[in-house]
Amino acid sequence: MNAITLIHQGHVPVMLKEVLEALSPRDGGRYLDGTFGGGGYARAILNSADCTLHGIDRDPTAIARGEAMAQQANGRLIMHQGTFGNMEELVGQDGPFDGIVLDLGVSSFQIDQAERGFSFRNDGPLDMRMGTDGPSAADLVNSMKESDLADVLYRYGEEKLSRRIARAIVTARTEEPITTTGRLAHIVRSCVPKDRSKIDPATRSFQGLRIAVNDELGELERALEAAPRLLAPGGVFVVVTFHSLEDRLAKRAMAELAGRTANPSRYDPAPVRKEPPVFSLLHSRPLPATEEEARENPRARSARLRALVRNSASQPSASGNRA
Ligand SMILES: C[S@@+](CC[C@H](N)C(=O)[O-])C[C@H]1O[C@@H](n2cnc3c(N)ncnc32)[C@H](O)[C@@H]1O
Repeated sequence: MNAITLIHQGHVPVMLKEVLEALSPRDGGRYLDGTFGGGGYARAILNSADCTLHGIDRDPTAIARGEAMAQQANGRLIMHQGTFGNMEELVGQDGPFDGIVLDLGVSSFQIDQAERGFSFRNDGPLDMRMGTDGPSAADLVNSMKESDLADVLYRYGEEKLSRRIARAIVTARTEEPITTTGRLAHIVRSCVPKDRSKIDPATRSFQGLRIAVNDELGELERALEAAPRLLAPGGVFVVVTFHSLEDRLAKRAMAELAGRTANPSRYDPAPVRKEPPVFSLLHSRPLPATEEEARENPRARSARLRALVRNSASQPSASGNRA
């Protein structure tokens, strides 16, 4: 097996050891990384077994990093540009997979490049698109109704002062369209009183807009439906989330598939199951990063890993047929 030596510096993979333990790649296995990013997981998977890996990312710069890595992989790494919510269309023909992993959110490559418009620390164009299509953050803040804008900040950013901020945005854009991250951050900060935490007051609003621009929760919902169908018997689906909105969706979908949802009422007990469920949870609780990792990598502090296993005795789904 040829080892991959290329490392793309710039993003430190979160909970890599735990992801590898959950997937336990094996020789001859097929794996899918739906969030290729800097290829940190991909490289580790390909170096731990003589397996094949399909990598998806919506960001063309991540695809370019993957293509460079593929040159060292002797046909074992195949890249696909697109969204993981669309994984069945992108790689359904290449499955079923022995492992599928999603490491949600943005990469450090994306945040650190001011021109991508994700950061409130570095001034840049107000973009926030991980891919290349669809409306940018500037399009949203300059065109949305005040009440819709407030809803985005409240729901996706969990920002309690969403109405006040939406009002300030709408006032500011009547003077001149808001086109930079610096100006938006300034407007948000002017609405939020300083608290004692070290968190920048613009953090929640930027998160809310980023989630809306990239339809991140819709993408996750589609992936949570599709991935289990693409798993081979014995295959594992791993999701690493970074905030409660994502984690709640992953928790609910996986619990439902594993038959772990609570009975709606004690007067309406669930029917007695005759067959074992097709899926089970790998861990009874979500795994956090170790204290050591959280100390060294601030991104890891909010990470939670959940994993679902397709039981070995189950039949593969029709959509995940191996050619
Ligand atoms: C946190 S990074 C992944 C880092 C990767 N695990 C590594 O070790 O380098 C997330 C990546 O997923 C991509 N991404 C986020 N949402 C996506 C989606 N819905 N479809 C495809 N790619 C997505 C982003 O563009 C970004 O490159």
